[in-house]
Amino acid sequence: MNYVPIVHLNQVDSTNIYSKKLIEEDNIEKGFVISDIQTKGKGRYGKNWISKKGNIYLSFFFKFKTLNIKKFFLIFPVLIKKVLEKYSKFKILIKWPNDIIINNKKICGILVEHLTVHKHKFVIVGIGINVNSSPYIKKYPTIYLKKIKKKNFILQDVINDLLKVLSKISFKKINYKNFIKIWNSSLYLMNKEIKFLKKKDLYKGILKEIDLNGKLVLMINQKKIKFEIGSIL
Ligand code: BTN
Repeated sequence: MNYVPIVHLNQVDSTNIYSKKLIEEDNIEKGFVISDIQTKGKGRYGKNWISKKGNIYLSFFFKFKTLNIKKFFLIFPVLIKKVLEKYSKFKILIKWPNDIIINNKKICGILVEHLTVHKHKFVIVGIGINVNSSPYIKKYPTIYLKKIKKKNFILQDVINDLLKVLSKISFKKINYKNFIKIWNSSLYLMNKEIKFLKKKDLYKGILKEIDLNGKLVLMINQKKIKFEIGSIL
């Protein structure tokens, strides 16, 4: 396994922002940034990610050439699900596009960002996992590993499991069909009627599947409609 640098901080604004600095200012091409606390944790759509001590705030960044950026979001929820399976007796579901759900509650969020520096493309995958507590969020219920397992966790054990799985990925060898299969067997709200927001448009339909390109397929008025962006409400 190639050496991948790991930076572990006590506190930072955001591990994604810190990763960006390492890429832009220190010319580092691949690495992990972990922090005990984040003061400006970033969620998707410009939201805040509350980041108190006791949970995992980790970013994984790397340079890439050919891989279709749209496919990145398919990989990481599946890998994190695999890590969390060791710690949960409950089924772990994936909410499109990037949340991990246990018992109908969010346990993990993933923020994939990309940037170009001197014509080289980079991806930063920010992962937040609730381990010892979870914040109260008005819009959706949250849960944490300690509550599921009813035991204390050594945070570093979970971090080590994550590092192991993430540093082993070989993007060239990924079989996307298998990943899509896992998505479809763990898709949160599968065959349920959902509300879906794409920009300002609200849709109602039955969630049918993730297609081979990772698009979300809804059955709306007997027609299958595919979505590439948006969020399930
Ligand atoms: C979401 O909105 O669900 C995505 C949340 C992503 C949070 C993680 S915590 C580590 C990394 N650093 C950040 O600022 N955000 C991501």
